[in-house]
Amino acid sequence: MHINVTDQKGKRHRLEALPGFRVMEIIRDWGLDIKAECGGACACATCHVHVGEQWTGSLIAPLEEEIDRLDEAFDVTADSRLSCQLIMSEELDGLEVTLAPGTEKDRAAA
Ligand code: FES
Repeated sequence: MHINVTDQKGKRHRLEALPGFRVMEIIRDWGLDIKAECGGACACATCHVHVGEQWTGSLIAPLEEEIDRLDEAFDVTADSRLSCQLIMSEELDGLEVTLAPGTEKDRAAA
């Protein structure tokens, strides 16, 4: 099982993934540049990703808390999600996400 992550510089990474892990954790644990400041508590929006168009229908709908937090992020579009709120599962094998601007570790919190 894997996910495909395009980083802020446009480089694509194919990452092994395990079910039950947050997509944010997978990205972070493979050493990509993701701030994820709050550690997955849906409190920072520095794990913001754009989800590949073909995948948006496979994801569970965001809770109000996630929508509120995304309001504070940069570059929010209809395909924006917080990667800490996406839980890896068989259905998401091959998921495509792109790290949004403002998720780099050396940037100020969004
Ligand atoms: S890690 Fe903070 S909202 Fe996702």
